[in-house]
Parts: sequence; C-alpha cells; structure tokens
Amino acid sequence: MAKNNLIFLIVFLISGCDSHNSNKITSKESAQKGKALFLSVGCTTCHSLSGEARYGPSLNKILNTDVIVIQGGKEHSLKVDREYIKRSIQDPDFEKLIDFKNKKMPKPTLTADEIDQIADYLISINSK
Ligand code: HEC
Repeated sequence: MAKNNLIFLIVFLISGCDSHNSNKITSKESAQKGKALFLSVGCTTCHSLSGEARYGPSLNKILNTDVIVIQGGKEHSLKVDREYIKRSIQDPDFEKLIDFKNKKMPKPTLTADEIDQIADYLISINSK
C-alpha cells in the first residue's frame, strides 16, 4: 500500500472511532430521558423549540449551524456539534453566543450522564 493511502486509512479509522465527536444520538432511550429532563429542569423558561427566541435562543435547529461566540474576550465562529452543545450546558459562560452576550444562562446542576441525555435529545430533534 502506498504511504499516502495508509495515512488516509489511519485518519479514517481514528475519526470513525471517535464517538465523542459523533453527532449521532447514543440511543432513543437516552434521547427520551433527555427530553424529560429538558422539560422538567427549567430549560424551557428560556429556550423554545419552535424557532422563536425567548430569553435564550431556540434550540430546535442548532446542530451543524455556524455560530459566532465570544470566548475569553475573543470572537470566533464554530460549527455546532455534540461537544459544543454539551459545553454550552455544562459551562454556559465558557463560550457565549454573540447575539446573546449580555444575557446569562445559569449553570444547571446536572450530572455528566444527564448532560449527555439532553444533548441526545437536542440532536434528535435537530436531525429530523
Ligand atoms: C435563565 C435562562 C436560561 C435557562 C434557564 C437555560 N438557558 Fe441555555 N442559554 C441561555 C442564554 C441566554 C444562552 C445564550 C448565551 C450563552 O451562550 O450563554 C443559552 C445558550 C444555550 C445553548 C447554546 C445554544 C446555541 O445555539 O449556541 C444551549 C445548548 C443551551 N443554552 C441549553 C440549555 C439547557 C439544556 C438548559 C436547561 C438545563 C438551559 N439551556 C437553560 C439562557 C438559559
């Protein structure tokens, strides 16, 4: 096998195995648990799922969109993926959407598993 092909194969295998960066849901059950959490822990006070902004942005169509955020005082753009969604829930102040930079999302008290489940829910409604 030519050296270049081997490198491509290795890169392909590594990216394919990196499930943490995957934008697919872990399971339907997980997304269902995430939905129940999303509806019960107060997210809907600030987030609609209809496309309409409330205090915070609507969350029904965020996956794979390009957003501009402020991080450590600097603006940059990024593509919304699973990791970004999880970071946004875990540490809302880390990156702030430029359009909402003067608004504050409180840090929710959720376990890592619960954050994964909510991420699964948001990804499941985004990919319909
Ligand atoms: C008090 C209002 C408020 C509550 C409650 C709240 N958020 Fe937010 N959220 C915001 C605001 C404002 C932003 C945008 C500013 C920022 O990035 O911090 C945001 C941003 C986000 C983003 C990033 C969206 C994007 O398009 O980049 C996600 C994901 C998110 N919230 C999920 C949640 C989840 C899940 C909950 C419930 C556990 C929740 N939020 C509860 C106000 C809120």
